[in-house]
Amino acid sequence: MAYETIEVKPLAGALGAEVGGVKLTKVQDNRTWDEINRAFLDHKVLVFRDQGLSPDDIMAVGGRFGEPTYYPFVTGMEGYPYIFEVIKEPSETRNFGGGWHSDTTYLQKPPLATLLYAVETPNAGGDTVFANTTAAYDALSDGMKTLIAPLKGIYSAGLKRSGGRANIHRQVGAMKIQNAEQADTYEAIHPIARTHPGTGRKALYVSKGHTIRIEGMTEDESRPLIDYLADHSTRLEFTCRVRWEPGTLTVWDNRCTQHNAINDYHGQRRRMRRLTVGAQVPA
Ligand code: SIN
Repeated sequence: MAYETIEVKPLAGALGAEVGGVKLTKVQDNRTWDEINRAFLDHKVLVFRDQGLSPDDIMAVGGRFGEPTYYPFVTGMEGYPYIFEVIKEPSETRNFGGGWHSDTTYLQKPPLATLLYAVETPNAGGDTVFANTTAAYDALSDGMKTLIAPLKGIYSAGLKRSGGRANIHRQVGAMKIQNAEQADTYEAIHPIARTHPGTGRKALYVSKGHTIRIEGMTEDESRPLIDYLADHSTRLEFTCRVRWEPGTLTVWDNRCTQHNAINDYHGQRRRMRRLTVGAQVPA
């Protein structure tokens, strides 16, 4: 169905769209929000340019997608506990969010959407890539779909395979990290292939960082399948790439995508504001 109140321009064959003709702070009518929500389900990653959003505006836009949720490992902005800043300084070499993942899968109710708003961006670099995990699921053989249908994964915040969250977070010095020593205590069990409540479509829900094993199996036994599904989920033909400028807002659907912040801009500053919304049990 065509859009009447917004312009929607796909970013790639697999997912992602730039939405034009809309200043989010000015949208009052439900018809436009209904179309934005339909575009969100259709394209999974929506990019809005030149938005000029204050933290209050980010909260208001986020509220159109769901109730705000807390991120456990970074302190929120003064007066805005749900929004935190993702910062990489020119002197730093490690970035936050590098590595394929869907957000906070180790929570019992991970957020359905993430809003990321660009405040300061490098001249070039610092893009974010996204993968369509519904397309990845669809591309599996019937045999693999049958094999994984009953499987649940154990999701941990510990980031053990990359040296541990506390160790990693110590290297993103400009950010207000909290609670990282407790990361191992954040664990949840979810289906490896989850069903999107808005579309009824299945999507793979597996990442090398967060999925530590399959329920009922050891870590060693689980790893080949986890690695296969994670690599398959992020094949190039399932991806799109978002280039940021100050004022760009991107909203992504954590139920059917993964993302990876590219760390290719050493020596330059990147500062973003991030809000997650819509706690939901994956089923
Ligand atoms: C994140 O994973 O939330 C950060 C993504 C980014 O900074 O591009």
